Parts: sequence; C-alpha cells; structure tokens
Amino acid sequence: MPEPRGKFIVIEGGDKSGKTTQIELLKKFLDSKKIDCFLTREPGGTNSAIAEKIRAIILDPRHQEMDARTELLLYLASRAQHVSEVIKPALEAGKIVICDRFDASTFAYQGAARQIESDIIKSINDWAKYGLAPDLTVYIDITPEQAAVRRRDEKHDRLDAETKEFHEVVRQSYLEQAEGNDKWFVVSAIGSIDDIAEKIQNKVDDIL
Ligand SMILES: Nc1ncnc2c1ncn2[C@@H]1O[C@H](COP(=O)(O)OP(=O)(O)OP(=O)(O)O)[C@@H](O)[C@H]1O
Ligand SMILES: [Mg+2]
Repeated sequence: MPEPRGKFIVIEGGDKSGKTTQIELLKKFLDSKKIDCFLTREPGGTNSAIAEKIRAIILDPRHQEMDARTELLLYLASRAQHVSEVIKPALEAGKIVICDRFDASTFAYQGAARQIESDIIKSINDWAKYGLAPDLTVYIDITPEQAAVRRRDEKHDRLDAETKEFHEVVRQSYLEQAEGNDKWFVVSAIGSIDDIAEKIQNKVDDIL
C-alpha cells in the first residue's frame, strides 16, 4: 500500500476515562479548523460491516465462555479488516483518523490482564494491522477508584475487588507502554473536560 498521507490518532484509556467525550471535542476542534477527520473505534470500525460483526461476537454478553486466545484472534481479525478496509484508505485520502482504542488496548487487556505472551501478540498484531502504527496515542489515565466513581454516577456499580485489580493491571500496562515513547501523550482523566480537551488539542496541533 502507498505511504499514508493523513494522520492516525488513537485515544486510549480505561473504561470511563473520558475517551468518547474527548473524541467528540477533538472532532469539533478539527472541524472548526476545517480539517477533514474521520472517527472510528475498535473493536469493529465505522463503515466496516465485517469488523462490526466481529465486534458483536466479542461483546456479546452470552459469550461468557470465550477462550482468551479466541478473543485475541477475534480482536486481531477485526483489526485487519478495519485497517485494510477503512483506516488505510482514509489516511491515503489525507484524512485525520481518530480511533477509539487500537493496539495498545490489546497489549493492556489481552496481554497484561489476560496474560497472553506479549511477543505472540506483537507478532500477530504487526501482521494483522499491516504494520500501521499510530502517529499519536493519547492515553487518558484514570485510577480504578476514580473510574468506579464515574460508574456509580452512571448507575453501573458492578466493580468488585477483583475487577479493581484487573483495571489496575490494565492501567499499569498503559503507563509502561507510554514510558519514554515520544508517540504517546499521557493526560490525567481528572480535571475539567475543557482543560483536558485543550491539552489534547495542543498536542494534536503539534503533530499536524
Ligand atoms: N473530565 C471529566 N470529569 C468528570 N467526568 C467526566 C470527565 N470526562 C468524562 N466524564 C464523564 O465520565 C463518564 C464516562 O465518559 P466517557 O463515556 O467519555 O468515557 P469512555 O472512556 O468513553 O467510557 P467507556 O469505556 O464506557 O467507553 C461520562 O459520564 C462522562 O460524562
Ligand atoms: Mg466510550
């Protein structure tokens, strides 16, 4: 495939960290500058029927018995379709692609939390994503305790001690991935929505 001309921006973070809130504000910001951007998400992907069907299999609450390896392969199958059908063509058309979660989530959830070896994930993931790397990964950092407060506010209080541990493992994986990586930008989830949006906008401005 030809070299992408657009920019690929990924927003990462634990559940309730504010990803969707910030993606919408980032889109507004880019729209106001007349910059053509395209929003998508993983698993699945905007305008990809196949990736969205794989998403539905992954997220189906009836699929409690899903094997961790099956789950990994489904995420990567979804990613291969998403990259080839949606993300690469959009980048080639010069768009700014903003994706809600990408491969850092795979290393955090399937790797650190579900304990699949990271060298195995790395090799299949590199192949599945056609080697595509984000130009910028924005990681919105939230502690499990802070996320639990937001979940309570949304009346989804199901966080027990075990899941708190799970979320902390995920968080530590994100922080390790960010460490010393100049393609990452870490921002705290705690603060006003507008302040966080401004920090993200400044960083995005830097790479455009
Ligand atoms: N900076 C903030 N301060 C306080 N509350 C916030 C902040 N940002 C977002 N919220 C609230 O936290 C909740 C989760 O936000 P949002 O849906 O954007 O997060 P998310 O990371 O996309 O979550 P999910 O993992 O469910 O997709 C929402 O109720 C939102 O209004
Ligand atoms: Mg969201």
